[in-house]
Amino acid sequence: MERTFIMIKPDGVERRLVGEIIRRFENRGFDIIALKMLTMSRDLAEKHYEAHKGKPFYAALLEFITSGPVVAMVLQAENAVTLARQMMGALNPLDAAPGTIRGDFTTDTRKNLIHGADCPEAARREIALWFPELALDS
Ligand code: TYD
Ligand code: MG
Repeated sequence: MERTFIMIKPDGVERRLVGEIIRRFENRGFDIIALKMLTMSRDLAEKHYEAHKGKPFYAALLEFITSGPVVAMVLQAENAVTLARQMMGALNPLDAAPGTIRGDFTTDTRKNLIHGADCPEAARREIALWFPELALDS
């Protein structure tokens, strides 16, 4: 079984889509291994998004992601990383298919409701960052 890291962004909490988004993953058959709600510190946001440092959208991304509470979770399923990315939908609203979370609930490239690790290595890194108590048994 594979584990992935998923985060419902501040817009998802504000729009009361937490239940809707978690329901989709539970319906699909993912197990929730860990879950917590918090407002990200600047330090955590920088570590989480370190791959994007220096990009033109980086400052606005950090501003947004620290603007309110997020819901972070570790989900488990066969091929969890790829499946969760499919269920999220693409970043570009024109490519986010109907039936995906982004495709059903947003047209915004920044306020796009959900983060998901994009490969197994990123999932391991993000799980270790957010849930260090789980890092050993994943
Ligand atoms: P990225 O990892 O490329 O997308 P995804 O969330 O689908 O993995 O980008 C991370 C986040 O950065 C993205 O969810 C929103 C923000 N972002 C922008 O605001 N503008 C952009 O042009 C890009 C590429 C990303
Ligand atoms: Mg990404």
